[in-house]
Amino acid sequence: MSVVTELGYLGLSVSDLAAWRAYAAEVAGMEVVDEGEGDRLYLRMDLWHHRIVLHADGSDDLAYMGWRVAGPQEFAAMQEKLSAAGIPFTVGSEAEACERRVLGLLKLADPGGNPTEIFFGPQVDTHKPFHPGRPMFGKFLTGSQGIGHCILRQDDVEAAARFYELLGLRGSVEYHLHLPNGMVAQPYFMHCNDRQHSVAFGLGPMEKRINHLMFEYTDLDDLGMAHDIVRGKKIDVALQLGKHANDQALTFYCANPSGWLWEFGWGARHSTGQQEYYTRDIFGHGNEAAGYGMDIPLL
Ligand SMILES: [Fe+2]
Repeated sequence: MSVVTELGYLGLSVSDLAAWRAYAAEVAGMEVVDEGEGDRLYLRMDLWHHRIVLHADGSDDLAYMGWRVAGPQEFAAMQEKLSAAGIPFTVGSEAEACERRVLGLLKLADPGGNPTEIFFGPQVDTHKPFHPGRPMFGKFLTGSQGIGHCILRQDDVEAAARFYELLGLRGSVEYHLHLPNGMVAQPYFMHCNDRQHSVAFGLGPMEKRINHLMFEYTDLDDLGMAHDIVRGKKIDVALQLGKHANDQALTFYCANPSGWLWEFGWGARHSTGQQEYYTRDIFGHGNEAAGYGMDIPLL
């Protein structure tokens, strides 16, 4: 059976490449790689050639997300599974795979219309040590847990859940959040490895494809340093420091140069074998800057 093993990479469309270059390096600590192409920059978080591509084409939204399968056998089996389920996809040409620095590539869309790629064989530059964009105490937590997690726009949560189940993820509703208007928000979280969730949706209508990307540091002091830098630069913080009930990570959410959120985190627990749900977070995550689609009360 073919299942995805991690959220491996992201492509982001941005309008201000210079602002992103500074933010990724000086705020987050990522390594910026410029291959001289002019229309893109690569962000490294580990030994992979990149984990994020910044495309200077101006839409300030998610361009694509890449889900990894183990190897060519799983890649072929995934194509059979998608075909049997009637899900359209195209097989990336050699040039397209080369552009992504992978050995094999499928292109499709999830039920929310989010460009989705399935790949195997990323280019890993073991000869090139990770060099953070600013001093760091530790590293980014990637490895078998992938890049982090994304919250996506989905008009049909059930259809999205079935799609990601087909890819091999598992999960369910993990919160019942009581809103001031009497409604109950029920966000849906899904995992495919030890990371407690790699994708989530069900936050209601969203202007952009993506609400936030969460990534994680191995060292608490890097989260603290990032927080100091964000506060020093007076970057909008949408959710203050707090601890989620589901992944139990200590995180805060701040604006990136494209006007959506990056969630900086540390200390998440692993995905559990059995599903649970929660009615609030453990502490913190108070709302601060409004307008980023995270105005739902977590406490
Ligand atoms: Fe998150």
